[in-house]
Amino acid sequence: MNAKNIPPKIVVVGSCNTDLIIRTDRFPAPGETILGGTSIMEPGGKGANQAITAARLGGSVTLVSKIGYDLFGLQAMELYRNENICTKHVITDVSNPTGLAMISVNSLGENYIIVAPGANSTLSPADVAAAEDSIKEADILIVQLEIPLDTVEEAIRIAIKHNVRVVMKPAPAPLSLSDAIISRLFAILPNRVEAEQLSGIEITDNRSAKAAAEVISRRGVENVIITLGGGGVYVKSGDNYASIPAREVDVVDTTGAGDVFCGAFCMQISLGYTIMEAVVYANAAASLSVSRLGAQQSIPRRLEVDMTM
Ligand code: RIB
Repeated sequence: MNAKNIPPKIVVVGSCNTDLIIRTDRFPAPGETILGGTSIMEPGGKGANQAITAARLGGSVTLVSKIGYDLFGLQAMELYRNENICTKHVITDVSNPTGLAMISVNSLGENYIIVAPGANSTLSPADVAAAEDSIKEADILIVQLEIPLDTVEEAIRIAIKHNVRVVMKPAPAPLSLSDAIISRLFAILPNRVEAEQLSGIEITDNRSAKAAAEVISRRGVENVIITLGGGGVYVKSGDNYASIPAREVDVVDTTGAGDVFCGAFCMQISLGYTIMEAVVYANAAASLSVSRLGAQQSIPRRLEVDMTM
């Protein structure tokens, strides 16, 4: 709760998928079949993962997204409703299936993800414009890049028009993202691969992370927060720099950790915490999520994160 004891309002414009996850000792080579281990099937998608994180941490969350007219879409809707997420802007596309993510997780907790966007690819600027009333009331708008870029741009345009702060998780790693978009963001939260893509700098240590953060920041965004997995988090906020170490944890599955970080960061910012305080809390939430298998089923609730602080 904020000073007025009202839950922050978070709007997420983004993807929802069904995740098919298989654990494996190692990834197969091209043409090779290997036997994996545990498997799970659950709703996922970067947008939905971020929405569920914010909801589990106490936010009043609206998801703007698209599902297919199929069992996966129904399963996702049921979950969102159970999490008290407002689904009035989750649209059903009768012509395309719900997005699907094939995920392999190796014994180090690393993953490979292939996404078939399905209905996500038809979430249009008009669909987002229909959610303007929700976006204009938000404390923060969260966007990512698993939906068409012109739809992301429309969401940002509406948010800026109403003085709503926008936070972007630039995933999947963007091949190109214009300065016109980046300069409208309150914060950008790339992981290592995404930060390398955005900056053109290979990140191997704090020095290169700082250089990458500076290049991205020069493109017009004040807060650049690079999540580096076991390397912790590198933060550039205006003229302030910090490297926050990763928490000691037995890593089971890193899938969705960046989404948990993003949802938790936005919640804490909406509650009035500073950038550094929000990063520390988001780091704690993400480290809980990597200690369990799956994306959405591993997202912690507020009390659990608070107990680790
Ligand atoms: O960030 C993790 C997510 O990426 C998974 O849930 C999967 O659906 C893909 O969108």
